[in-house]
Amino acid sequence: MPSLPVAVLHDPATLAGALSEHGACLLSDFPAPRVGRALHDALKQRQVAGTLRAAEVGHGKQHHLRIAIRGDDTQWLDGDSGLAAASFLSSLQALRVAMNQHLFLGLEEEEAHFACYPVGARYHRHRDQFHDSDARVLSLVSYLNHDWRQDQGGALRLHLPQGSIDVFPHAGTSIVFSSEIEHEVLPATRERSSIAAWFRRRPR
Ligand code: OGA
Ligand code: MN
Repeated sequence: MPSLPVAVLHDPATLAGALSEHGACLLSDFPAPRVGRALHDALKQRQVAGTLRAAEVGHGKQHHLRIAIRGDDTQWLDGDSGLAAASFLSSLQALRVAMNQHLFLGLEEEEAHFACYPVGARYHRHRDQFHDSDARVLSLVSYLNHDWRQDQGGALRLHLPQGSIDVFPHAGTSIVFSSEIEHEVLPATRERSSIAAWFRRRPR
């Protein structure tokens, strides 16, 4: 199996180079441990409060069809999501500006949601770019799971031209990839928490 390049947030040039060459790159040590723990707590609080909602796929899909395609519960991050979320969103904003400087992508905004996959849930092979809009250019997923073991499953499987690559959802790991790349989330034997984010341009 091929492996992915690794970059860090404060070296956006390396990230940009890896993205233009490979279409995908790991970001290590992001979010910072303190922010990651606070984001995980924030996700837990939402789960307890019952504000996470079953993710949508298309319109009017029946429940059992939707669950077969994707089983995660989500909630958008916004100005009311707390300090850790605000810090995370401002890091994304800085990353967007840096990617525009290095890659001339014309990204105008970022959006991010908490996602929780219950035991056994998956997200079938898909692209993040919608059929009717090319607004999503880059995808970023940050994992919030401490002490994840590979035998617990739950990999993100990226289907790259050079072969498929599995990324396990360890806390402190993020991945950035082109929203045109097909990928899927494999089922896990434990609950799997993350934040998924997208950088968007004006749709053409
Ligand atoms: C998504 C997605 C990947 C992951 O939310 O679109 O593909 O690893 N998430 O959680
Ligand atoms: Mn996706």
